[in-house]
Order: sequence, then C-alpha cells, then structure tokens
Amino acid sequence: MKINRKHQQTIWLKENNEKIIQVFDQRFFPHQINIFDITNTSEAIYAIKEMIVRGAPLIGVTAAYGMYLACIEAKEKNNPNEYIVEVSKKLNATRPTAVNLSWAIDMMQKAINAESSIQKKIEVALKTANQIKQDDIDICYHIGKHGLALIKAIAKEKNGETVNILTHCNAGWLATIDWGTALSPIYHAQKEGIDVHVWVDETRPRNQGANLTAFELNEQGIKHTLINDNTGGHLMQHGMVDIVLVGSDRTTKNGDVANKIGTYLKALAAFDNNIPFYVGLPSSSIDFSLLDGVKNIPIETRDENEVKYIQGKVDGEIKSILICPETTPALNYGFDVTPAKYVTGLITERGICEASEEGIKGLFPEKF
Ligand code: MRU
Repeated sequence: MKINRKHQQTIWLKENNEKIIQVFDQRFFPHQINIFDITNTSEAIYAIKEMIVRGAPLIGVTAAYGMYLACIEAKEKNNPNEYIVEVSKKLNATRPTAVNLSWAIDMMQKAINAESSIQKKIEVALKTANQIKQDDIDICYHIGKHGLALIKAIAKEKNGETVNILTHCNAGWLATIDWGTALSPIYHAQKEGIDVHVWVDETRPRNQGANLTAFELNEQGIKHTLINDNTGGHLMQHGMVDIVLVGSDRTTKNGDVANKIGTYLKALAAFDNNIPFYVGLPSSSIDFSLLDGVKNIPIETRDENEVKYIQGKVDGEIKSILICPETTPALNYGFDVTPAKYVTGLITERGICEASEEGIKGLFPEKF
C-alpha cells in the first residue's frame, strides 16, 4: 500500500546489504516516518518487544528474519545449533498472544535443522523468511478478495449508498506486509468503486487506530472518521454501522478470537444490534492446538505507563503526557477474547467460514 503515493511494504532487506533488515518504526506514526535497521538478533527482539513492528503477521515475519540473523551470528559460535535455539526462545518470549510468532519460528527452525552446514543454514533461513513474507502478501490479498463479497452485498442492499464499516486497532497493511487482514476487503472495495466509510476506534492505550489505521486510510484516500473507543455501541444502536471488521492475533480451532483489548465489547454491541461481526485472519493466526480461547489463550500484560501516559504531538514535538495521579496504579491487558458465538464469520485466505470447529475444518481439513 502507499505512503506519500509511493508503494511500500513494512519489512524489506536493505539494498546492497542482505544482512540488514529494514522496517518502519511504527512507534511514532503518523508524526514521524522513520526507518529502523535490524542488524542483529538483539535488535530483532527489541523491535518486536517495543512494538517498533507490531500486528500478528508482521511480528511473525520479523521473527523469521530474526532467525535468519541468528544463523549468521551462529557462524561465530562454538555450538551454532544451541545458539539458534537460544535465540528462538528469546524471540518466542517477546509477545505471547500473537500465535504467528511461534508459527513462523517453528517453520524457520524446521528449515534450518534440515541443513547441516552453517552456510547452508544461512541460505535456507533467508529463503524461508522471504517465502513467509511473500506468502503473507498473497494470503492478505485473498482475504481481501473474499471479504469484498460481504461489502459488495451490503452496498447492493443499500442501493449504492455508503457502506459504514467499524474497525478496531490496526489490522491494515502496517500490521502485515501489504494489504492487511481486516482492512484488505476495504482496499479491494475501494478499487471496485464501492462507496465505503470507516469508523476508526482510537484503540487506547497504544492508539493503533488513531495513529496507524487513520494514517493508512488517509494515505489511501478512503473516507474515515476517528471515534473514541466508547462510541461504537452508540453508532450501532443508531444504524450507523453496517458491518464490523477486525483482525485476530490468535483464533482457536473452535473459532474464539483473541484480538486487541476492546474487541470483545464491540462484538457484544454488534450482537445486540444484529450487525455482522467478521474477523479477517490468515491461517497462520489459527492455533489448531487450542480450544476455548477465554481459558487458554495467553493474554499479554504490558507496562502500566502505557495507560497512565498518552503520546502525541505537542508544538511540533512528540511528547508523553501523564493523564492520572502519578501514584495511581494501572492495569494493561493487551488483548481480549471474543467467544465464537459472537463472531458472524471468519474471512481467511481460503474463503469465509463459520467461527466453529466445523467451519474451520471445512476450509483447513489437513489441520485436523
Ligand atoms: O498490539 P498490536 O498492535 O500488535 O495488536 C495488533 C492487533 O490486535 C491487530 O488487530 C491484530 O494483530 C490483527 S492484525 C492483522
């Protein structure tokens, strides 16, 4: 997708230096568009942990390149295999909820283990990371194609009137490599000339909606309105939302969806108002080993200061401002789980299915 009318992706190899991975530093969007160089495994771990990169699919791809860097570093170690496993454990521990992380690391580890010389391990690691990246682009493209049918149907029902879509957090191209998950159908709808408008939840405390989704839609020329996190229910009661589209960090095999904190409340409001609530997700976000997301999905707890302070641009500078008494304690869960019964459907790269074991099995029989 575009920044300043130029097509960009979220992660790439530095020109003329394949040992450096470059990403956008998403911490300061939309005020500063900086590039961050990942030159070693410590920087890969830091980039994921500190949310320089974020969004389940992009976390997975960054970890894949982190494993490639681990192979380069392993060349200088007495026990290269041990070192690679050590790094994989550190990468795995950076963000516990998004399952794409362990999915990508496992895939890398398998490819690396299949080679015996360290030179071959480096080569196969780079090839596999590039492939995971390319697959994510293709998958997100297809999620968009399948989700487009839903938006098209609503537009037809409304005789071409604007389709109002509500989204939470950022499940756009900045959370993936290109296209996005929940936003991909919206980008496809725009290409088809369908009149769409997006309600963008600000998504406290990190404000991925305000900082990233609003930025993406703005760059792409899609009509959107920023709302505070508590407004969605009111809009739904007054017929101002036609469909809710969100992403997922981990979906269990029975269709429970972990996504950014606050998603569950939107699903409840959508359910109460008979508004379709769909989740766009690549199969790499499905945890085929888990049932019952509320009980079993690990939920990341982040620093309380993310709740106590708010970051923004003041007099041309990015600043953090305290919004409560300094000594007030805060609690900062990063994600919540929406039970499958509130999810109208899952939009995957293979099509749309019911959020249930049967539905998921219908699209991904080989995983059962
Ligand atoms: O904490 P983040 O910014 O990594 O959380 C991102 C989200 O919750 C997204 O909505 C989710 O990863 C789906 S993205 C394609």
